[in-house]
Amino acid sequence: MTQSIKKPSTNPHPDPELLAAAKAAFERAYAPYSHFKVGAALRCTDGQVFAGANVENASYGLGRCAEQSAIQAMASAGERGFTELVVYADAPTPATPCGACRQVLFEFSPAAQVFCVNAQGQVLSHAVADFLPHAFQL
Ligand code: THU
Repeated sequence: MTQSIKKPSTNPHPDPELLAAAKAAFERAYAPYSHFKVGAALRCTDGQVFAGANVENASYGLGRCAEQSAIQAMASAGERGFTELVVYADAPTPATPCGACRQVLFEFSPAAQVFCVNAQGQVLSHAVADFLPHAFQL
């Protein structure tokens, strides 16, 4: 399906409620192997907020990224689109979604704005489609 891609928002500031939800999810992350906790929170098209954290596993490849946890929560609740996503981690520079997460985000909302925020308050922001040029589409 071909999806229309709107211009990204130019607002450099994440929604404070989403940032708080991403920080709360960060605190709940299960990352005993990497010790790198990540929280993500998104706002659905209808205003609902869903959050997720990374959840690792002793079988390393089964670990789940925070962004995918948030998308799973959203989609499992029956929602199919989001307008904004905040990714929060305590890193020297804002942690950006991995390649796999970019494709998962693109599935639902290529025009959504992603705000990557670190503990120092640095922000890196792009639209999902700008994070993943030439995304796979059916
Ligand atoms: N991680 C995320 O949760 N999101 C990303 O986009 C990048 C990486 C997690 C996976 C793993 O649990 C830890 O960060 C270290 O890679």
